[in-house]
Amino acid sequence: MPTDTPERAALARAVQHANAFLDGLEQRPVAATATLDDLRARLDRPLSHGGTPAAQVIDDLVADVAGGIVGSQSGRFFSWVIGGGTPAAMAADWLTTVWDQNACLHISGPAAAVVEEVAGAWLKDLFDLPPQASFAFVTGCQMAHVTALAAARHGVLRDRGWDVEQRGLFGAPAIRVLANPDRHGSVDVALRILGFGLDALEPLPLDAQRRVTPEGLAAALARRDAPAIVILQAGELNLAAFDPFRALVPIARAAGAWTHVDAAFGLWAKVSPAHRQLADGIELADSWTTDGHKYLNVPYDSGLAFVRDADAHRAAMSLATSYLPPGGGVARDQLDWNPELSRRARGFAVYAALRELGRDGLAALVARTCEHARALAQGIGGLPGAELISTSSLNQALVRFPSPAPDATDAEHDARTDAVVAAINATGEALFGGVTWNGRRAMRISVSNWRTTNADVARAIAAARAVLEHGTEV
Ligand SMILES: Cc1ncc(COP(=O)(O)O)c(C=O)c1O
Repeated sequence: MPTDTPERAALARAVQHANAFLDGLEQRPVAATATLDDLRARLDRPLSHGGTPAAQVIDDLVADVAGGIVGSQSGRFFSWVIGGGTPAAMAADWLTTVWDQNACLHISGPAAAVVEEVAGAWLKDLFDLPPQASFAFVTGCQMAHVTALAAARHGVLRDRGWDVEQRGLFGAPAIRVLANPDRHGSVDVALRILGFGLDALEPLPLDAQRRVTPEGLAAALARRDAPAIVILQAGELNLAAFDPFRALVPIARAAGAWTHVDAAFGLWAKVSPAHRQLADGIELADSWTTDGHKYLNVPYDSGLAFVRDADAHRAAMSLATSYLPPGGGVARDQLDWNPELSRRARGFAVYAALRELGRDGLAALVARTCEHARALAQGIGGLPGAELISTSSLNQALVRFPSPAPDATDAEHDARTDAVVAAINATGEALFGGVTWNGRRAMRISVSNWRTTNADVARAIAAARAVLEHGTEV
């Protein structure tokens, strides 16, 4: 790349550093190695008066963050549900930055608007969602919940003759929120932001597989005196449990309740013929949230909200002002559907990843990561000194490392588990997460990166074996 202008020089350096970073994924430790003090000392340079040449800023930045970048792009990152970036998604994301469109209106970025229109329709088709459903490309599942639950709030109050956008929540009929108690914390934050308050939450009864039971939901909804929102989930973080949507959603609908599903990674089960059944009936719900930056392997930030009742969604989000010319009903203006006004044209990366992978590539990605999760769970859970707690039908698993001491207490088993997870992570060979599940500490295994190979799985199992054989002092 020519380097005759500051722009070209900086971008050329970025390409070089990016390629070196990706080439080094195999060798570098997966966990970050730089300490907080290291990073502060390196990055906290005096802010100059005269500025710094662009290429040098990039070179310095890369040098200063060394060891402070977690290897979540690595095929051996199994901690949280973090996908990598597919090649086309990463490249499209760079172009998004270079084009720097304000994707709030069709007129401020016509191609950005149409790309979202097209990718939104592809996604509804892939997930079997109703073709008339509206959608929003947001920052992550957190804001997707805010968007979808704002639409839900509008819809259930509108049905009671209350315009919440105009009149607010003070004095409105109190909305009941019935939810799966294993829900992700981002649901609670969305409810707080939207003014429901956590006291509005009523936990629904679960079965032994931690799925909401139809009898429990029916009993909870027997009282019909208040507007209600039911929050279910597709893909719980530890067991990847899916609520039985085909049984539950009709019960909620018959009671006039709105069903929202947190499907941050579980909605992607729909793209794999071998896993689709897990999310059976999910399409019957009223709103759905998921992430592009998890299973689709699109760079951050990429969340998605879908809403069956497009009128409720639009009413909750739309902004009309005289200085922003609308798309005139022909083009899709994102500000009618998104919580933000000015925003990144994040549809390009989603569009690129979907085109790159295609339907078969998506199905293979989901199937492959599930096989890898199972192989890791069985490979590590089967080692002497380990105990397999659960594998799932999707991409999550739990393993524990009980203390070998004959009369070890629960606290000692927990401490041993945390020590083994820390020691595996300290090898740099793989990165796993820790969690308290069912009152006990466990190691979480999550696989969602397109890069993970059988060799990565073998390398991670070997690291765990070495720790269990040679002790946790690494
Ligand atoms: C099940 C579930 N729901 C919601 C979220 C929140 O998603 P995000 O971090 O994209 O806002 C996550 C991820 O961390 C998740 O795993």
